[in-house]
Amino acid sequence: MKWNLIFLDKVESTNDVAASLPLKTCVVAKEQTKARGRMGRRWISLEGNLFFSLVLKNYNTQTPLLSFVLSLSVAECLKEFDASIKWPNDVLIKGKKISGILLENLEDKVIAGIGINTQKAPTEDVLYPTCSLETKIKNEDLLNNILESLDKNIEIFESEGFQKIKEKWLTYSKGVGKEIIIRLPNEEIKGEFIGLTDEGAVQVKTKDLNCRLITAGDVFFLDERKIND
Ligand code: BTN
Repeated sequence: MKWNLIFLDKVESTNDVAASLPLKTCVVAKEQTKARGRMGRRWISLEGNLFFSLVLKNYNTQTPLLSFVLSLSVAECLKEFDASIKWPNDVLIKGKKISGILLENLEDKVIAGIGINTQKAPTEDVLYPTCSLETKIKNEDLLNNILESLDKNIEIFESEGFQKIKEKWLTYSKGVGKEIIIRLPNEEIKGEFIGLTDEGAVQVKTKDLNCRLITAGDVFFLDERKIND
């Protein structure tokens, strides 16, 4: 089944528009005035960048794993720029964030909002170093490639399960074996990034050699700490 594409000029958030639309709809907007990011943050939507939201099936307990299916699909389309992925779903180029993904669970569906800095990188009010593509690649072409890649990866997810997605995701993953810091609401965990569980949690080996499993939080590599510190 093909994606039903809806192009709009100005919206508050493409996720809000997508919320009332049927499965397999993709809402794209030129401008967003109230875009949301993960953990209640805002997403700075600079002119010319790509913003879109997809209406996906709800996979119940497996829904959080869509984060990996989506970030993998974006990274695959930015492979020529040497894209990597930072857990859970930030896509980076040369270690700087180029794309963010926000999953919102509704009863009967899931809205996946994706922002990609194709033209300009926000510099103010950002938690991580950011970058833009700085190329003449057209937003529409990139979007079509992502939808194509996503269709293939969703098919793999549904037929072969998360294991295959995890394998592919790990080939793009930044930081395995490296020292990371995970910020949780009331705690900061420092340790070695060991890998991913089959539930999508990040495994961290702390100094006292305990293995912690983290399911939500902000990951920082040691060289990123200058931002907002
Ligand atoms: C993040 O914090 O990294 C996630 C950012 C998600 C931003 C996108 S832009 C399109 C869609 N509409 C929104 O309001 N948010 C998402």
